[in-house]
Amino acid sequence: MTTTGPLVLGDDFVQDAHSVGAKLRDSAPIRPVVLPSGMPVWLVTGYEEARAVAADPRFSSHRVYDRMHRMALGDDEESPFSEDFAMNLLNLDPPDHTRLRKLVARTFTGRTVESLRPRVEQIADELLDAMMGRDSVELLESYAYPLPIRVITELLGVPFEDHDEFTAWSKTMVDGGATEEAGAATMRMAGYLHSLVAAKRENPGDDLLSQLVHEGEDGERLSSSELIAVSVVLLIGGFETTVNLISGGVLSLSRNPGQLALLRADRSLMPTAIEEFLRHETPNILSSPRYTTEEVEIAGVVIPAGGFVMVSWLAANRDPARFAAPDRLDITRPRGGHLAFGHGIHFCLGAPLARMEGEIAFGRLLDRFADIEVLSAVEDLRWRDSTAMHGLESLVLRLR
Ligand code: HEM
Repeated sequence: MTTTGPLVLGDDFVQDAHSVGAKLRDSAPIRPVVLPSGMPVWLVTGYEEARAVAADPRFSSHRVYDRMHRMALGDDEESPFSEDFAMNLLNLDPPDHTRLRKLVARTFTGRTVESLRPRVEQIADELLDAMMGRDSVELLESYAYPLPIRVITELLGVPFEDHDEFTAWSKTMVDGGATEEAGAATMRMAGYLHSLVAAKRENPGDDLLSQLVHEGEDGERLSSSELIAVSVVLLIGGFETTVNLISGGVLSLSRNPGQLALLRADRSLMPTAIEEFLRHETPNILSSPRYTTEEVEIAGVVIPAGGFVMVSWLAANRDPARFAAPDRLDITRPRGGHLAFGHGIHFCLGAPLARMEGEIAFGRLLDRFADIEVLSAVEDLRWRDSTAMHGLESLVLRLR
């Protein structure tokens, strides 16, 4: 692999993410590539380089989705990222980012998350009840998806009957990248959320969206576009990644029976185990995009002004310069340091909720089943066709 000229990445970037990530990182921790979607970006795969980029304001998020879509669809095409999505936190720089993030953080507090614990446990138990006594279970459909979807939609106040439609749009948006199909799903989601916000204004409920509608009545009120943008990142961020934590963690444990036995024997290891699942099968391959506001030299590489830059959290989390024996699952590894929740001003706002959901999901699963066996053949394991997400499409288990 040479370091000059963009390297065109194929399907194996997604299907064989760890070995391709390692090859890229070992050859050049920052280099130009063409993503499988055809998008040229500067890809960052080294740990220190990833942190440096995520913390450097010369890598901007301002209106980056618009820019990327314009580039992907041609300059004349109108971007599907209308005003409604312009205020997405991952599309903003300070000071707008700071103001909006503060408003959301005020509602989405540690206390809010803690107050959800009994409900998350109840949802996990209901899902596990339905899995009892079956010969085989497809984990994503039965547990890994419905758990975080129910948590985040209940929290925000999305009616239960809309879950299926809502989930389908979300998948198309996340997996579709900069395609017209993804644009259409984005518009539908925006239309849906407009009606939902209007309904919450009219008739507020006991949910986060209703609180956000009325948040900052003292003059700092969120506009409709801001509300919609915030709802989208919370809703999509809220389950598309957590599902991968659950399925990726179960896969890692099933491949490492010694670690599974250790976790069963000492449940106090659960919090460090969750951090290790996040590092070992990182739920996001790539960060959201950034672009350089000026020519930037970083780790000896010169990126011209206006270059799109993406960080591979997945590759950075297996950088041997930072983590000893990075491919090994070790649930006793000292906590901290992994980049699964990002780094810098866009650090995941939902990390406390994701961690709690993870602890409950794995805790309840181990309580219920003494024996967890993967029935899916290794060659049948497919990863979602997405450069954003590192998530299994399906995982069939026998649970006893
Ligand atoms: C941002 C990962 C769960 C809401 C991020 C980022 C990452 C991430 C890597 C930074 C992206 C970037 O800098 O480009 C994860 C993972 C999760 C998870 C791995 C689960 C295991 C959640 C949940 C929520 C959430 C449950 C909401 C309830 C957000 C929001 C942002 C974000 C709002 C944007 C923050 C900002 O731009 O200031 N997440 N996330 N995430 N996440 Fe999460």
